[in-house]
Amino acid sequence: MKAWVWCFILGVVGATSAATSQAANLLSDWQPSSVVGPAKCQKCHKPQYRVWEDSPHNIGFLDEEFDSEEIAEKMGVSDPESSSALCSQCHFTRGAKLHGELATVSCESCHNPAKNWLETHGTYRDAAGKKVNKKEQEAPVQRQKRLAAADRAGMVRPGHAYRLAKNCLSCHLVPNQKLINQGGHPSKLAFELLSWSQGKQIRHNFSLGSHNPPVPKSRQRLLYVMGQMVQYELLLKMTQSATGKYAQVQKEKLQQTRNRLKQIQAKLGDPLVAKVLSATNAGQAAQAAKTFASKYSQGISSSTVDSLLPAANTYKN
Ligand code: HEC
Ligand code: HEC
Ligand code: HEC
Ligand code: HEC
Repeated sequence: MKAWVWCFILGVVGATSAATSQAANLLSDWQPSSVVGPAKCQKCHKPQYRVWEDSPHNIGFLDEEFDSEEIAEKMGVSDPESSSALCSQCHFTRGAKLHGELATVSCESCHNPAKNWLETHGTYRDAAGKKVNKKEQEAPVQRQKRLAAADRAGMVRPGHAYRLAKNCLSCHLVPNQKLINQGGHPSKLAFELLSWSQGKQIRHNFSLGSHNPPVPKSRQRLLYVMGQMVQYELLLKMTQSATGKYAQVQKEKLQQTRNRLKQIQAKLGDPLVAKVLSATNAGQAAQAAKTFASKYSQGISSSTVDSLLPAANTYKN
């Protein structure tokens, strides 16, 4: 992996969003009316689309192996497949009017609704600002502008490790008390950003090579640490005034995450990890995690945390 290719992919790190207070929806910058759907992305991102098509996110509720009726009944949800039902927040493309491909977790569930950045983010321009077709013809200054504009329009890209992690975890931590306490919804302990994003099920790094390689080691370290930091932030918020089974499950996750962060800190010795660990509320942890993401936007070059990283054979393949 050449360093310049990597710099190119990471690009500009944009502004991050403020925290929300609503437990069931930890994302504040989500605009359901701006969802365009994966068919639009397919036009220019065929290989990425193929990976997604075969991924566990492209299941939705219509799949036979998905037994959702019991949970829905306990929650008093009559039609779990309706876009207004609670279930659609995490099992579908959040809040979008549901039909076909949007009744799944789709591209925009992770990259954010695209209406306002769809055009901008994929248009190359030369130094004079004229549209050009090839990446090689794009002027570096235009590239900066293109990514900055996409960032302003809310796009979540590889360069935004913090926001990517937050999108995954806002579903995977199942931040909804009633759903767990009353609905009996599963809430597993297992989510971990590196091994869950870089296995064959999810990984789509075609701009790093047509064979879709895993991200470089320095990036793997960042994904691992970022995943723990953001998980800690969200759990600090979620465990406030939590009760019942939910409280038990989420506090267990919080403790587990805290232990992992301590291990990370023992190896990395970074003041920002210390800040996350000493945070007394989610806002403080978020601030340190965002600063960490900017500091290591090119990845973590030191190999000290390598013994903590999940082994490649434990990735979700
Ligand atoms: C008209 C073509 C086109 C469409 C449609 C399109 N993209 Fe892109 N996309 C591009 C191009 C071109 C790039 C830049 C690739 C490069 O130069 O590395 C890109 C880059 C990206 C990146 C990486 C950005 C980065 O920081 O490197 C992501 C993520 C992405 N697109 C997601 C999407 C999603 C999600 C959709 C659908 C909602 C979509 N794209 C639709 C053309 C398109
Ligand atoms: C806050 C996010 C969220 C909401 C809301 C949500 N789910 Fe889930 N659900 C998940 C996640 C994430 C998983 C996968 C858990 C895992 O594998 O770690 C899941 C898994 C499940 C499973 C188990 C599927 C399997 O393959 O084992 C069922 C059944 C289910 N959900 C039903 C529902 C129903 C019905 C609703 C609405 C009443 C609902 N969920 C609302 C996030 C959510
Ligand atoms: C909109 C909510 C949502 C977002 C965002 C999301 N997921 Fe998921 N994910 C789910 C649900 C729901 C399932 C369970 C699918 C099922 O069983 O029907 C799932 C399943 C998975 C699985 C398969 C789990 C298994 O046991 O095999 C992996 C891996 C995964 N997600 C990784 C990720 C990663 C990595 C991210 C972020 C880059 C992410 N997810 C973002 C909702 C989401
Ligand atoms: C489960 C969440 C998730 C879904 C769904 C998802 N992506 Fe991504 N995508 C990611 C993550 C995470 C990365 C960055 C990995 C990294 O560099 O750390 C990424 C990176 C990318 C990139 C840049 C990297 C590259 O080499 O191409 C493009 C382009 C992209 N996604 C397009 C898409 C398109 C198009 C879809 C739908 C067909 C899609 N993504 C669906 C999470 C997701």
